[in-house]
Amino acid sequence: MSCFPCSGSSGKAGEDAAALSPSPRPSAAKPAPDRSNSRSSSSVRRGGSIPHGPAKIFTFRELAIATKNFRKDCLLGEGGFGRVYKGHMENGQQVIAVKQLDRNGFQGNREFLVEVLMLSLLHHPNLVRLIGYCADGDQRLLVYEYMLLGSLENHLHDRPPDREPLDWNARMRIAVGAAKGLEYLHDKANPPVIYRDFKPSNILLSEDYYPKLSDFGLAKLGPVGENTHVSTRVMGTSESH
Ligand SMILES: Nc1ncnc2c1ncn2[C@@H]1O[C@H](COP(=O)(O)OP(=O)(O)O)[C@@H](O)[C@H]1O
Ligand SMILES: [Mg+2]
Repeated sequence: MSCFPCSGSSGKAGEDAAALSPSPRPSAAKPAPDRSNSRSSSSVRRGGSIPHGPAKIFTFRELAIATKNFRKDCLLGEGGFGRVYKGHMENGQQVIAVKQLDRNGFQGNREFLVEVLMLSLLHHPNLVRLIGYCADGDQRLLVYEYMLLGSLENHLHDRPPDREPLDWNARMRIAVGAAKGLEYLHDKANPPVIYRDFKPSNILLSEDYYPKLSDFGLAKLGPVGENTHVSTRVMGTSESH
């Protein structure tokens, strides 16, 4: 079974995310694409190279084939929720990153659901693109666009000797792009989204250090109208505090 119950009673977080509308707030500018700077058309393509479509449902078999059976040498990294593998789609053309959620993970299913709902509705050049997902049996996998230069974390800490430190221009590009992603979530998405997991390992970099925010499993909808209360509970891993 590869179908995942996106409209079922899946908890508060899922309901919150399902209430999201991709439409702009009446007083806000259009949400995407962001053309507020003078990036060339080629770099705009780099930032949002793969056209957005609805999230695709994959079978576990398709993703096992894409990642050569989750082979060790395809491993890109490992985080709190599971391992991320590099893969190739059947046509061999599209490179993907497949995150396999740890089946024993705490609240993994809830985060999976929020991630799929949020990234299906929020689209901006500085947010990573969710290509699809798999919910076969008890397997939970997320399929993203592959980000060539890994995470910002990979460039800041434990750098291999052959990797140059980031130059000033790259640092500025990353800071500005990440801020644009946050601005979209806070000021343009309707209702606003509070990301709650902002840390270097969640700022992914495509070619030319073009940054995209990733990991929306902890995100929450922000206050709307009169209701100005925001929970200040600290979330995420130690890196994000
Ligand atoms: N879309 C992607 N493209 C390339 N590498 C990725 C992608 N997503 C994640 N990674 C790599 O996998 C690592 C683990 O990611 P993740 O599971 O989100 O955990 P964390 O955010 O805690 O590092 C990241 O630090 C990054 O190096
Ligand atoms: Mg991450």
